[in-house]
Amino acid sequence: MQDSNIKYDFSDQVCIVTGGTRGIGREISKHFLNAGAKVIALYKSNHEKANAFKNDLGELSDRLTIESVDVSDYHACEEFFKKYSDTSIHVLVNNSGIRRDGLLLMMKEEQWDSVLHTNLKGTFNMTKFATAAMLKNRYGRIINMSSVAGVLGLPGQCNYSASKAGQIAFSKSLSKEVAKRGITINNIAPGFIETELIDDLPEAQVSEYKKQVPMKRFGSSQEVANTVLFLASKESSYITGATIEITGGL
Ligand SMILES: NC(=O)c1ccc[n+]([C@@H]2O[C@H](COP(=O)([O-])OP(=O)(O)OC[C@H]3O[C@@H](n4cnc5c(N)ncnc54)[C@H](OP(=O)(O)O)[C@@H]3O)[C@@H](O)[C@H]2O)c1
Repeated sequence: MQDSNIKYDFSDQVCIVTGGTRGIGREISKHFLNAGAKVIALYKSNHEKANAFKNDLGELSDRLTIESVDVSDYHACEEFFKKYSDTSIHVLVNNSGIRRDGLLLMMKEEQWDSVLHTNLKGTFNMTKFATAAMLKNRYGRIINMSSVAGVLGLPGQCNYSASKAGQIAFSKSLSKEVAKRGITINNIAPGFIETELIDDLPEAQVSEYKKQVPMKRFGSSQEVANTVLFLASKESSYITGATIEITGGL
């Protein structure tokens, strides 16, 4: 697989990646660092994984800041952006996300609220403050990590699918509000990507899902990160309000 730093140059750019210390986000942060960016990777509470990520990076870690910020908390996001008010922000990747699956009739209010608050309200919170910062420079790239669940809908995921479809609709509206100001906002809708998020799927379900994927395999975080870097680059200047599916043809 080709390394992103061969294709893109993000030196002098500051990229915020939420959920940027584990799974897909970890790979996105690493790709940005390899391409010369300064990265601020946010996470919720897994300090061990976040510190291990930073420690494993060697020299690249000089350009990485890790911060524990709960994206579902409006005031925590506001405080985070206040702290960086003197920093030009070029890229925001709204990647943090959770699943709390269950059939609708069994779904508890908490399952609905926690998923909507993290995935959709978190996107609103971070994007609102990032957009304000980006408007100052009339430049910005915002990428939401949606999901194929938000496009197709998956059983047992009314909450998750609604939150992911919400991100897509959110960005279609916002793209029209900020199009003239040099800010683009797009979505990525991955299918099944091998991370801890889907570790809990039973073996039988995994092999059933793999049969349904035309490429007969799950995707990797690197394959998602490559597309994030393209959408975050200056080269993607005429793409906004769009959703790119990374699903192996699902
Ligand atoms: N894996 C897939 O198959 C797949 C498919 C489609 C879409 N996606 C989407 O891709 C994104 C990344 O998924 P992943 O598989 O990499 O997940 P993951 O391995 O479970 O990692 C999730 C990351 O999000 C962070 N996070 C969760 N809640 C947060 C909050 N309230 N505030 C700040 N950070 C929070 C976590 O922080 P901690 O480390 O502190 O817990 C962690 O860093 C998600 O939005 C997911 O919905 C994944």
